Amino acid sequence: MGRYSLGGRHRMISLNKLVTGYRGQALSQPISGQFPQGSLTAIMGVNGAGKSTLLKTIAGLLPPVSGAVRFARSDKTLAWLPQQSDIDHHFPLRVIEVVAMGSWPASGMLKGLGCGTRDRIEAALEQVGLQDLAGRTINQLSGGQFQRMLFARMLVQDAPIILLDEPFTGIDSQTSAFLLQVIERLHTQGKTILTVLHNLQMVERHFPELLYLHDGHYHWGNTADIVEENAARPLVRCAARSEVRQ
Ligand SMILES: Nc1ncnc2c1ncn2[C@@H]1O[C@H](COP(=O)(O)OP(=O)(O)OP(=O)(O)O)[C@@H](O)[C@H]1O
Ligand SMILES: [Mg+2]
Repeated sequence: MGRYSLGGRHRMISLNKLVTGYRGQALSQPISGQFPQGSLTAIMGVNGAGKSTLLKTIAGLLPPVSGAVRFARSDKTLAWLPQQSDIDHHFPLRVIEVVAMGSWPASGMLKGLGCGTRDRIEAALEQVGLQDLAGRTINQLSGGQFQRMLFARMLVQDAPIILLDEPFTGIDSQTSAFLLQVIERLHTQGKTILTVLHNLQMVERHFPELLYLHDGHYHWGNTADIVEENAARPLVRCAARSEVRQ
């Protein structure tokens, strides 16, 4: 399936013949289409398909090989939750300091935070159930607690665009369900959300749009349509023997 159209909605992010890759080497064919404002899109594909590379390119962390990523608003602040494997868990920071980073560059380190920001940080810690661990150093967190902390940072950041790279990988089903509710709440607030996921059942139930990367090609649209079109491909076959139901 080619270019993905908006169906009358406002575009938030446009991919214009975007080719992602490293050192000039393309990973995929050019991708064109738009993420509408307030959309909730899952990005799926096998390991190495280029999902993280696409997200990093959209986030501006990697340059495109060719083509462009465009944002509808001049304020293109985005929140970025990296894949677990990209994170250094040993940095000597406390939970509250990491969550407070969500308010940068609006404020400096903790001592420079105004009351409003402190309240937002405390509210975010409470929303993810980490209020009692605020003073812990991050190397003393479990994987699920670490992920909750990153979600709290994202809540503090309050960006209009949210990019999540495998937020539930290695996370137990109860925590995943809890964090999924956080994503759904952000969706109802009108955020534009892109999430890399491997759990097709979760995607079918909770993510209205799907961008599926397969063999250098892409399939982008309404989730039910894309799943039906790709019924014989790894997207569906992996999920058949998969994961926890959400
Ligand atoms: N820094 C890099 N330099 C060169 N090639 C890279 C780099 N990072 C990733 N790649 C390659 O780019 C391809 C896509 O990687 P990417 O991390 O985007 O895959 P992915 O779809 O996120 O996979 P996974 O499901 O395993 O996270 C892979 O072949 C990978 O080896
Ligand atoms: Mg990845």
